[in-house]
Amino acid sequence: MAFHAVADVVFGLRFPLGALSSDETFGHFRAWAAGWFTLGMDLPFSTYRRALQAREALVDALTEELEHIAKHPESDRQPGLRELVAARDNDGYRLSTSEIIANIIGTIFAGYSTVAGMSMQMMMALAKHPKVWNKLKDEQERVVAELGPQVTGTALGRMSYAEAVIREVCRTAKFGPQFRLVTEAMDVDGYHIPKGWLLVLYAAFSECYLDDRWPMDDSFDPDRHLSVPDSRKRWPLNFGWGPHVCMGRFLSMVELKALLASLARGYTVELLEPDAELRFPTMEPPGGMPVVVRRSDG
Ligand code: HEM
Repeated sequence: MAFHAVADVVFGLRFPLGALSSDETFGHFRAWAAGWFTLGMDLPFSTYRRALQAREALVDALTEELEHIAKHPESDRQPGLRELVAARDNDGYRLSTSEIIANIIGTIFAGYSTVAGMSMQMMMALAKHPKVWNKLKDEQERVVAELGPQVTGTALGRMSYAEAVIREVCRTAKFGPQFRLVTEAMDVDGYHIPKGWLLVLYAAFSECYLDDRWPMDDSFDPDRHLSVPDSRKRWPLNFGWGPHVCMGRFLSMVELKALLASLARGYTVELLEPDAELRFPTMEPPGGMPVVVRRSDG
């Protein structure tokens, strides 16, 4: 779901992409993403070697599509890519082929593994809090009774409890750090941070323990978000902050709400290893998170 949402919604990719089917493209993305957290040694049969090969296959497929557009500018095969090729900024600057490819691969990576990881942590939290799951179901029953079964923008807007659950998962889940290279010395809260230092930012830690609305409180309680006045609402810190705040945060919220809505309306989800250890830095269990999803009526 997360892969297709970003490939389709953000870039309008159509499959086959070059010679790759949708499944093959996804498989290459997974293989490439797996290579990010390795030692980066290009040895035969290593995860890193497979990641490099996967990236090459993705670059080849996108290059083929971009060449097709260059030869047939009127072709409607990849409308999203055609828009990117035609786009100019205010100074008339256009993206080169390699910039377009790097943007697509980078953004799909940013949008796929993050939402997938967040969904997994959401399922782990729900498995441990059946009352929260029941409240989600109640909210979905109310939304369907009022607006019908389609998950529309209006329906998503009525899912305030689902949003509170997502915010609470953001607040309490375990995420890896972000890194910043300090380019100018600065003073923050009485601490001097010299130029050249590498800052390791644990947004997830700050969000959970240092939030002045609920300091040092790591209990899982989505209701807390329902009583926050608008003036004190803020976007969860694990989407970053400042000029480089996550570009996909609104899309992520839509995807996660739609996932919760679909599951709460018609499925039960059983985690086979609900207490699996989340390993640094991917914060995933080494063997993945096996789940059994059943239709509620079956
Ligand atoms: C739960 C899901 C997500 C989380 C937790 C997340 C988290 C983040 C964080 C922390 C940053 C800032 C990185 C930094 O400053 O070093 C970021 C940036 C970014 N995210 Fe997300 N993200 C999510 C989903 C998405 C999605 C769905 C997309 C796809 C559209 C996306 C695209 C991006 C891009 C392009 C940037 C770079 C923005 C820039 O540098 O200007 N993210 N994200």
